Amino acid sequence: MIVAGVMSGTSADGINVALVNVSGAGFDTRFELLAHHEYPYPRPVRRAVLAAMNAGHASVADLARLNFLLGELYAAAVLATQKKAEVKVELIGCHGQTLYHQGEASPYLGKRIAATWQTGEGAVIAARVGAPVVSDFRPADMAAGGKGAPLVPFLDYLVYRDARIGRIVQNLGGIANLTAIPAGASPEQVIAFDTGPGNMVVDAAMERLYGKPYDRDGRVAAKGKPLAAVLKVLLQYSFFRRKPPKTAGREEFGREFVADFLRRCGRARKEDIVATATALTARSIGEAVERFVIPPGAKAQIQAASIGTAKAVPLHRYSEYVISGGGAKNRTLVNMLRAELKLLGLTLRSSDEFGVPSAAKEAVAFALLAYETWHRRPSNIPSATGARRLAILGKISYAT
Ligand SMILES: Nc1ncnc2c1ncn2[C@@H]1O[C@H](COP(=O)(O)OP(=O)(O)O)[C@@H](O)[C@H]1O
Ligand SMILES: [Mg+2]
Repeated sequence: MIVAGVMSGTSADGINVALVNVSGAGFDTRFELLAHHEYPYPRPVRRAVLAAMNAGHASVADLARLNFLLGELYAAAVLATQKKAEVKVELIGCHGQTLYHQGEASPYLGKRIAATWQTGEGAVIAARVGAPVVSDFRPADMAAGGKGAPLVPFLDYLVYRDARIGRIVQNLGGIANLTAIPAGASPEQVIAFDTGPGNMVVDAAMERLYGKPYDRDGRVAAKGKPLAAVLKVLLQYSFFRRKPPKTAGREEFGREFVADFLRRCGRARKEDIVATATALTARSIGEAVERFVIPPGAKAQIQAASIGTAKAVPLHRYSEYVISGGGAKNRTLVNMLRAELKLLGLTLRSSDEFGVPSAAKEAVAFALLAYETWHRRPSNIPSATGARRLAILGKISYAT
């Protein structure tokens, strides 16, 4: 079956479309990537999306219009991709643009409520493309007691599991999330959670200090030096210490966090501030792996072994670290991350080496999740989302 996956992440940079030929079922699914393209949001759309995400107050009419407008843009992106690839799409999985995500329940009008909202009208996409659309993937997992995220571990388990090699798979989008798959793991043994910011704080600092959307290839950060004192304080932030499962978004690392971050940096050199934001991503990932993925004390043993004061012993079940997402193009971030991971005995690899191009991975994931839903099969991984049970994800809009 030819399935299109459509992804727009928290960076609000645009739309990724992957066309995939899918067969099989569940964790025996096979797929071939036929095409992948990125379509940046037009500037005013990006501005509207960012404003809606960060809004304390918003116009209901504007939000309703944005839902239909994004539906049109997603449809156009799928149509353009299928034209280039010269295939006919039979099914579409569209994640949509998250405007709000609160995985954890908190009191609201007398009840404890968790909530999530992805926008981009599926009915519009189905009508324009002439194929059924699965959208709104997250609520079913939340209704089953999960955090509604992460959902990409379904693909991670499918692609990166190995009988002998334990892998940690890290996506560096606006938010950074990891999936840890021990060697020979069953799906129940998969650990997955958001580690904190990916590019989000770097992007915000670039916007504020340079008027640029991101730090191309990490060039600005490469010229700077992280501010150790600021970094130390930021790493105390409660999110980093909270046990998984956990999810993050602009609610945690958006405008307020960035304002606090910039205040703490004071009058430091601009490149040092960007380097600090970059180091925050790398360090928070390193600490998350040490705290929540590998056994306590493993890092100290690895370091002792590396300076020859202890025997080299297998200390944990992971040896490779696979990165994907836009942040994989930030060389300074990748270098900092490589240094962190070396201390943890992990070798850095790229998703590209596994046949899933870095930028395409999440779009491919939503094509596969849609394919499962279309066949009435569940695809959340309860150990990753915290759900009490498996759930069939998403809502279907039919094309007539
Ligand atoms: N050449 C590049 N150099 C540095 N960073 C990049 C580059 N290309 C993309 N990025 C970063 O990747 C982000 C987009 O990554 P993406 O995986 O699409 O995230 P999301 O899923 O949040 O949309 C951009 O906002 C930017 O920070
Ligand atoms: Mg993106």
